[in-house]
Amino acid sequence: MNLRGLTLNGKGALLVISWIPVAMCFNENVCYIAKIEGKSMRPTLNPNDITHTDWVLLWKWGAKNASNLHHNDIILFKAPTNPRKVYCKRIKGMQYDTLHTRHPYPKDVVNIPRNHVWVEGDNAFHSTDSNNFGPISTGLVIGKAIGVIWPPSRWGSNLSETIGREDARMNGIVV
Ligand SMILES: *[C@@H]1O[C@H](CO)[C@@H](O)[C@H](O)[C@H]1NC(C)=O
Ligand SMILES: *[C@@H]1O[C@H](CO)[C@@H](O)[C@H](O)[C@H]1NC(C)=O
Repeated sequence: MNLRGLTLNGKGALLVISWIPVAMCFNENVCYIAKIEGKSMRPTLNPNDITHTDWVLLWKWGAKNASNLHHNDIILFKAPTNPRKVYCKRIKGMQYDTLHTRHPYPKDVVNIPRNHVWVEGDNAFHSTDSNNFGPISTGLVIGKAIGVIWPPSRWGSNLSETIGREDARMNGIVV
């Protein structure tokens, strides 16, 4: 990364400092940097992939354990249909949740089995997600996206500001 000529405003400088402890833990098994491709997570990630693509910091430690995953976390996981493909989506349902699905899922309501999660892209119209391939095993999870680290203009992006469609869970409702 070439940092020459980079001007930081006060907010930018502050964020650089706040990222240092995170950068120090960099390790293939703990933290990882991943490039986000495509527009399925727009506007949260890659708001404009013509000018740039986002790189995110990924937290890998314990991410396959369902008790470390939470509703609305953004995760990277291996595609259930092709383990060489990696998807980045938001968790919209946890194990044991009951959810309203969306087209083209064959059923209107789905129960998420143990150690599975339901994932969707924030950009519903350009997303291949659980509505296509169903709930995914947490064993496919590679890590949790915890922040955008590149480009600098995207530092401090709040990954929870837009969360895709509203809560689709219907827990407690007998269907
Ligand atoms: C998953 O995480 C929970 C809570 O952090 C812990 O109690 C449990 O032992 C973990 N399971 C595995 C298989 O590591
Ligand atoms: C990010 O946005 C969410 C939803 O608007 C808000 O609840 C949360 O406090 C924000 N986090 C930060 C660090 O600003």
